Amino acid sequence: MSTEKVYTDYFFYEPAFNTHDGGYIPLEEPNVEQQKLKVPELLTPDKETDTDMYYTVTSQAGEAQIMPGKATKTWGYNQALLGKTILFKRGKNIHVTVKNELPELTTYHWHGLNVPGDIDGGCHTPVYPGESKVLNFKCDQPAATLWLHAHPCPSTAEQVWHGLATAVVVKDEHEATLPIPRNYGVDDIPVILQDRRFHEDNQWDYKADYDPDGVQGPTAMINGTVNPYFDVTTQKVRLRLLDGANRREWRLHFSDDLEFTQIAGDGSLLTHPVKFTHLMITCAERQEIIVDFGQYNPGDEVVLYSDDVPIMHFRIHEFAKDDSIIPDTLFEMNTPKVTENTPVRKVVMSGMDEEVALDGKKFDMERIDAKQTMGNCEIWEVTNTNDCENGMVHPFHMHGCQFEVLDRDGHDPYPNETGLKDTIGVNPDETVRFKAWFDHPGVFMYHCHIIEHEDGGMMAQIQVDDPDHPQEFHLTKMDDLMKAFAKERGVAVEDLDLSGMSCYDHMENMDHCNM
Ligand code: C2O
Ligand code: CU
Ligand code: CU
Repeated sequence: MSTEKVYTDYFFYEPAFNTHDGGYIPLEEPNVEQQKLKVPELLTPDKETDTDMYYTVTSQAGEAQIMPGKATKTWGYNQALLGKTILFKRGKNIHVTVKNELPELTTYHWHGLNVPGDIDGGCHTPVYPGESKVLNFKCDQPAATLWLHAHPCPSTAEQVWHGLATAVVVKDEHEATLPIPRNYGVDDIPVILQDRRFHEDNQWDYKADYDPDGVQGPTAMINGTVNPYFDVTTQKVRLRLLDGANRREWRLHFSDDLEFTQIAGDGSLLTHPVKFTHLMITCAERQEIIVDFGQYNPGDEVVLYSDDVPIMHFRIHEFAKDDSIIPDTLFEMNTPKVTENTPVRKVVMSGMDEEVALDGKKFDMERIDAKQTMGNCEIWEVTNTNDCENGMVHPFHMHGCQFEVLDRDGHDPYPNETGLKDTIGVNPDETVRFKAWFDHPGVFMYHCHIIEHEDGGMMAQIQVDDPDHPQEFHLTKMDDLMKAFAKERGVAVEDLDLSGMSCYDHMENMDHCNM
């Protein structure tokens, strides 16, 4: 693949962009002064040896100064809002103590991490208020930007909205040899893209903003900062973009149509770098880009836009000349081969609003929807049948594995879909094929990552068995989670008002468009 070509379009189907949704909330330029971008600190390990890393991750409630005036009540990991960046080194044994100091149950989902089902942190592994547990696993996957977020179905969306999301960075020896920026906080930063509506006294009100097609707000919030600027002190800056919004797609481009280079996707580096002027990222995806500010002078400002709204400012300072060249080959794929006998699994995402479904069904925590043997590669064919009006892009995500995209409706995947992925936007009426294999046993969710669709039941689960060590998996009952939520909130179960639940009453008339 040539690295000379510069892509200038967003690839996805324009009629399916979120801008066409009935409930679309456009971004507005915030009426506040520019604020220094909060770059999350690296979480300090409790202890690190040559072979092991120990961390403590605490979910907590707090207050964050986001807007001028009153602080916003928020949730976060080890801090009031969002969290510190968690670094895992490939090859090390990781021990994470997860603690819950929130007033309600939560789970700790490692989005993109290849770990057994009981470590993955989906809805079967709640940690109740005041409790903690230790997760032990080996980090054995390529360098990538992953993330940690809450996943207690059907209240995942609300907990993420409160702030329970943070970047996780995997480092490995290969990435460490490449001539690309990696000085964390200086020329290598996470950029967590979210949007919120600030109500009276700068508070968030998830219930008031609820939309079964995904909650949005008019104000872009990046790493918890509104109207941020970043001081550019090196010619090249590596941005680890993460769409941490519940529903929003971001269509990114810079002032002057500045070119940039994508080097990594969800679960690894891309096989080859790809140059862009415009780039769309859908919910839960990660895209690492390198921006070369070489043509600018101290005092200049470069603006990052989503559609036509400025969301972040880059203030150019003095920097040393950097004429390093991003290598043509960044990553070698070494994935299982597909043969005539490779099984094919079909998955269908359908509906909108409360009627969303996966394979025509709502999620059931006590039902296993599919089985795959550990280590076996299968082809997954994921179709978005949602052709209501123009339909919408559903970002399909799988837990517990990283997959390789094969094609979109028989055509090549988009040029930045090389390498390993765990989340992929599927256009209306389109079928995306990828090959997937699991390295660990367990029960893993797969779902649309518009988080309200996931809570609304557009989700299923697969049981992965290790033939050499057959085991029974414990499935938590949704009822037990509901009872616990009700108790924590001091209400009767019948009166419990979790937004996602309303969708489960819409099972009968699931096959018409409700725009
Ligand atoms: Cu980001 Cu079910 O996950
Ligand atoms: Cu996940
Ligand atoms: Cu969806």
